Amino acid sequence: MSEATPVNLPDHARDTTGTAVNKAAHDRRSFLKWVWGGLKTALAALLGVPALIYLADVGRRQRPLRGFRRVARLSDILQHGKTSATTGKRIYEVVVRETRRDAWMIHPNQVLGRVWLVHDPNQKIEPNDPQSALVAFSAVCPHLGCSVRYDAMDDRFSCPCHAGVFDLSGQVLEGPPPRPMDRLQVRLVPDKSSSTNPPDYFVEVDYQEFVPDIPQAIPRS
Ligand code: FES
Repeated sequence: MSEATPVNLPDHARDTTGTAVNKAAHDRRSFLKWVWGGLKTALAALLGVPALIYLADVGRRQRPLRGFRRVARLSDILQHGKTSATTGKRIYEVVVRETRRDAWMIHPNQVLGRVWLVHDPNQKIEPNDPQSALVAFSAVCPHLGCSVRYDAMDDRFSCPCHAGVFDLSGQVLEGPPPRPMDRLQVRLVPDKSSSTNPPDYFVEVDYQEFVPDIPQAIPRS
């Protein structure tokens, strides 16, 4: 059934075809459209801004993890490290941690990686240049990234994934690793609260990751 057209409406109440128009209804529809458009814009901003912050933050979080981090005391290595039967060196594994921040939260004590410290107590330690008596190796195998462990029985480092074997100076003895274990910078910082003689030191390591399975130790970018 078609709707009857009022015959006595003024011109502004009809459309171009002469059909009657309810002006109040038209205004209400325009207003609702305007409100809906505003809501959609606000919703997009609400969802989009955090996403942009997150994406920007992903870039920041994936940058190389550089910088010295405190991992132990020198006395820890001497007291708790395993002793090499052939060299008398102390071998001690440490975990490197840091506090990470993303767009929403702070995550304390996140594990960055593991490091093997090899200390030769027979060498005089030079606090300003400890590398001759104290060496730090990344525990990440330079072949394909498995965890290298110390095998006390055979007094060497080994990787269970493809039977890679390294000596205590990190040189490859057996297996597919294309380069020695990756060395990390290490430094000693005096522990001012220490009352021992000689004084104790904090051991700090510049932790980083390297590109696997190539002959050169190239830090990951
Ligand atoms: S990952 Fe270590 S030997 Fe392959």
